Amino acid sequence: MMRCLIYVLAAGLLLNGCTKKNDVTSATEIRIGQFGSMTGGEATFGQSTDKGIRLAIDAKNAAGGVKGKKLVLLTQDNQGKPEEAAAVVKKLITQDGVVAILGEVASTRSLAAAPIAQQYKVPMVSPSSTNPKVTQVGDYIFRVCFIDPFQGPVMAKFASENLKLKKVAVLKDLKSDYSLGLSEFFVKKFKELGGTIVAEQTFQTGDSDFKAQLTQIRSTNPDAIFIPAYYTEVGLIARQARQLGLKAVLLGGDGWDSPKLFEIGQAAIQGAYFSNHYASESPNPATQKFITDYKAKFNETPDGLSAAGYDAAMILIDALERAPELTPKAIRDELAKTSGFDGATGKITINSERNADKDAFIVKVEGKALKFVTLLGP
Ligand code: PHE
Repeated sequence: MMRCLIYVLAAGLLLNGCTKKNDVTSATEIRIGQFGSMTGGEATFGQSTDKGIRLAIDAKNAAGGVKGKKLVLLTQDNQGKPEEAAAVVKKLITQDGVVAILGEVASTRSLAAAPIAQQYKVPMVSPSSTNPKVTQVGDYIFRVCFIDPFQGPVMAKFASENLKLKKVAVLKDLKSDYSLGLSEFFVKKFKELGGTIVAEQTFQTGDSDFKAQLTQIRSTNPDAIFIPAYYTEVGLIARQARQLGLKAVLLGGDGWDSPKLFEIGQAAIQGAYFSNHYASESPNPATQKFITDYKAKFNETPDGLSAAGYDAAMILIDALERAPELTPKAIRDELAKTSGFDGATGKITINSERNADKDAFIVKVEGKALKFVTLLGP
């Protein structure tokens, strides 16, 4: 209350965020914030996630909303920048009075914004950030996906046991918490399984010339290159690797998932494998219903980001339904109780660390599609 009053005086405004925030619980609407990379080098992450979220929210509103109130989604573009992510989340909370926040995809941006959500005690649900540190920020931070200490070993096992690869080179992004974490977890497990890491090279988000690193990697003659990065850089790396005559198998993680991967990577990305949150070929009825509804609304096939965005919104809606009152605290408590929720990406149970324990789908790039290869558990 005191902070609210000081803020009013300091801002010199009567109609500021604090007043609006109080209005929300009594109003006819429930405000939900979303922050994502709607533009920039990772724009398909934000755009796909947004579509999945809107599918869930629009359907709920069409069915009468929650407790007779309409869900209002307020979306903020952070342009793929961590400092912007922190700024827009602060705005959503202090000026727009949202009761919960959906986002982000990239771990680095979730990590930039989570301390703010935690500080103001507004629950945040990340659809697809996989770095373990994200939910460790505090008890208001959740995610509906698996984490990289699981995903990395899964890919290491797949490389070693399924593909029988012995020598792997790693090319990672120094600017990305996701990339650094995932490579670390992969490397540890691959070595444990008897494999050799023949090279570890680095780059930075936004780089476009990877020939020096790839030339060094070529000299080690690897069976595969593990590239824990996002689709724009991955596509370019794949092309430059092939230009340099590298024939190694290309391996990656969920960050590859984008319709742009095929466009940027072209022939070079064909036959590559990565681990993902979802596969459109999954026979799971919840997945197939999601795909049918998504195609009807957007006239395109959803990627894994859309599926994860949809699931994040769905478990939030589920928590709103169960919450005895629509306060951030009550919503937080219900999110924590999420159990056996049938999502588009599989069954979601929020564990004591506010993560979801789920299997990983291994997919293979074939033409402009991702072919389901296998489902791997812990
Ligand atoms: N898991 C990635 C991260 O934590 C984000 C991502 C998820 C990217 C799913 C693409 C698809 O940074």
